[in-house]
Amino acid sequence: MTFSPANHKRLEAFWQYCLTHQYFNVGYPESADFDYSLLHRFMRFSINNCGDWNEPSNYLLNSFDFEREVMRFFAELFHIPFEDSWGYVTNGGTEGNMFGCYLARELFPDATLYYSKDTHYSVAKIVRLLRIKAQVVESQANGEMDYDDLVARIAADGERHPIIFANIGTTLRGATDNIAVIQQRLAQAGIRREDYYLHADAALSGMILPFVDAPEPYSFADGIDSICVSGHKMIGSPMPCGIVVARRGNVERISVEIDYISARDQTISGSRNGHTPLMMWAALCSRSLEDWRARIQRCLDLAQHAVDRLRAAGIEAWRNPNSITVVFPCPSASVWKRHCLATSGDTAHLITTAHHQDSTQIDALLDEVIADLKFRGKPVTRNPLQAPLVEGLGSRTRVYSTAGQPRTEPLPGHARPARDSGLARLKDSDI
Ligand SMILES: Cc1ncc(COP(=O)(O)O)c(C=O)c1O
Repeated sequence: MTFSPANHKRLEAFWQYCLTHQYFNVGYPESADFDYSLLHRFMRFSINNCGDWNEPSNYLLNSFDFEREVMRFFAELFHIPFEDSWGYVTNGGTEGNMFGCYLARELFPDATLYYSKDTHYSVAKIVRLLRIKAQVVESQANGEMDYDDLVARIAADGERHPIIFANIGTTLRGATDNIAVIQQRLAQAGIRREDYYLHADAALSGMILPFVDAPEPYSFADGIDSICVSGHKMIGSPMPCGIVVARRGNVERISVEIDYISARDQTISGSRNGHTPLMMWAALCSRSLEDWRARIQRCLDLAQHAVDRLRAAGIEAWRNPNSITVVFPCPSASVWKRHCLATSGDTAHLITTAHHQDSTQIDALLDEVIADLKFRGKPVTRNPLQAPLVEGLGSRTRVYSTAGQPRTEPLPGHARPARDSGLARLKDSDI
């Protein structure tokens, strides 16, 4: 590959731009602290994971063996026996959500899909693409689904096979829809478990909840049918990726034999990225379970630091339990644009992703937000968490009250180790 001097210059300028902005991110959940340099040499190969990693393929340059280990890890993380699950490495959370919705629609072709107002915007596209009937459900003030509205809509529709799209960490407010409550409410409405589908969009929190002491329900053991996670968020990756895991029996319904590659296929795309499974494998096996727990606790502590600083300045900042998303009143455009904050209506949020080793960047942003909101004289918005943060129940626990569900979260240094998962096993096969 040769470049003209002009193109050389252009690429060099882009390189410098990337270096300058590498760690810019406080508004979106992409972690930038990855190092996949041991994998750089594979970039010379056209690695393509077309089809099912569990089947031999005529296309030899695939990374199926690594994809299998990634999927084994996530099956264990989400509490489903590996042999009862099937999933794959996707392009990101959106493809995983589409896969979950596709399975649900194949199971219940005429069903209505219910998702809350706080759901990621891509889901509206997915239901149009898949031509699924859909209903948007009200959200509670903290971003969690309004369960009364959910059951009222299902009843009004006379829907006997609802597809429930639950958020395990919403995009804007980090809220988790309570899948235990959802199942309880559907049972009360006389809808049997085998008559509905429950997909969990865990794009960000799928790599948080398994590592905290008091997680909201999120796993197959808690009753889900499928779940997706983005790989470029908490894990971190130079290109978008993710995973989806579903119940194997449901996946078999959509499997097709493809002559062209002499293999079966049940994925959304034809050609699939073969480099991202390698990256996810490398990321998962180069950190121990305790490393993940510590990384996530650091993000949670930093989020609490941001809440504490804003509240000390009289600004009603808040976050949902187990969430690294801090919500506060929207500052002036000059401030949110300079820091690339995501905004929605009269609120903005920051996300304490893992590349923030300390509070320096967050503090610089908070200084400006506090000065700006105080200057404009409107520092207070209503805190949707019913009671303000209460500290000091013993020295170990902070207590939140949100949507009537008391939750606890440990103070730094007091967390129990996360439960066992496939990570320990992956660690054995060090890169
Ligand atoms: C809750 C949620 N779901 C889905 C997505 C889409 O994920 P991706 O960007 O990986 O396609 C996002 C992205 O921010 C998200 O926050």
